[in-house]
Amino acid sequence: MLSLDLTNIFAVGSHGMTKKQFRAQKKHLKKYLRDIQLRAQGFYTVVDDMATVRDIEQYAKDVRGKFDDVVVLGIGGSALGTICLRDTFSHLYADYTDAPRLHVIDNIDPMMIEELEDVIDLKRTLFIVISKSGTTPEPMSAYFYFRKQLEQAKLDVTKHIVFVTDPERGVLREISWDDGIRTFDIPKNVGGRFSVLTPVGLLPAALIGIDIKKLLAGARDMRDVFFSRSFNKNAPYQLAMVQHFLNVKKGKTMNVMMPYANKLYPFANWYRQLLAESIGKKKNRKGKRVYTGITPVNALGATDQHSQSQLYNEGPHDKLIMFIAVEKLTKQIRIPNIHPKNKAIAYLKNTSFNELLDIERTATTASYTKNNRPNITITISKIDEYHLGQLFMLFEGATAFLGECYGIDAFNQPGVELSKKLTKEALLKK
Ligand code: PA5
Repeated sequence: MLSLDLTNIFAVGSHGMTKKQFRAQKKHLKKYLRDIQLRAQGFYTVVDDMATVRDIEQYAKDVRGKFDDVVVLGIGGSALGTICLRDTFSHLYADYTDAPRLHVIDNIDPMMIEELEDVIDLKRTLFIVISKSGTTPEPMSAYFYFRKQLEQAKLDVTKHIVFVTDPERGVLREISWDDGIRTFDIPKNVGGRFSVLTPVGLLPAALIGIDIKKLLAGARDMRDVFFSRSFNKNAPYQLAMVQHFLNVKKGKTMNVMMPYANKLYPFANWYRQLLAESIGKKKNRKGKRVYTGITPVNALGATDQHSQSQLYNEGPHDKLIMFIAVEKLTKQIRIPNIHPKNKAIAYLKNTSFNELLDIERTATTASYTKNNRPNITITISKIDEYHLGQLFMLFEGATAFLGECYGIDAFNQPGVELSKKLTKEALLKK
């Protein structure tokens, strides 16, 4: 189960929305849905691609026991979903599984390379090079480096390297043909930050034992919600309407995502890219300069109540806060009543960490609401593959709707391409 609670949007006076203003958004739903479908983006069809799931699961089975470490070389949309999947389903402190360890090299900081080499044994390592374009300098330089290391160690690169890239184009694709390197496809119509449910996220996830079928089942169910023509049912649409209205009419230029679960903090980091790159645009679809964007901010409950909450509660009226709550985090862990005579801490008696976290979240939402800070709460029953799949699709769908609200292309990234181009030019000139 996933639910979206918008109550506090209607309870913050002129900083939020009236119910009438909210209901008025209903009128765009069918047109926006039709327009999104006409754009033929693949992020919502990949959830039906069971042939790819079978290929990935077969590959994971074939290499089981052969590697102690899997290293993803990728950046941006080719890395953040994998980091989120790994960190959501890993033990917070220990490695209790017999699956390989998963590392993601998503920077060119040479210390990442050096210190990775301290902990891996090349003979027992699989490298997954992920790049849609196949030309991005960060993953390509890391690929060159590790391929050379493998060759020098006289290891068979076709056994230690896998590519995930565009089905037809790009340098990686060409190398895969020339060198016979096993390659999984990123569908042509799925862009980097929308690709977590393609082999970009699914392949590394399957290799560390994450149930990718369940992940897709959750995403599929949410895709059906995203396709719903009923305003009351379409959670991605409602979410986008609130984000857009509060941005353009109420000056809420920032969206804070604040999960109350350490394991969902990397999800906020995944969403940070999705919102920033999709909505931050100079021009609209007609070519007019519009300079749209909402700045994503990550926070963690309850930790950041003691770091950021003062600002969110009393600082500038420029934020929409999106809380993520989990109904059942673990079994109840009770807090023992150790100092029963001390009245100052008597409030902790007869409670559990689970209840305390929940009560703190509710109190924080109440304090924000009291200070007229618009906030919403998304609740999932528990942290598992199904619900993470739902969350991915909820926010991908909402982002697609947001693009329609602003009249911009949510699926391109000309600003990112420009810096890639200038980097290449500078390297060629030196
Ligand atoms: O969302 C995007 O398209 C970008 O963030 C890309 O994922 C990122 O630039 C990496 O590109 P590529 O996968 O082509 O190496």
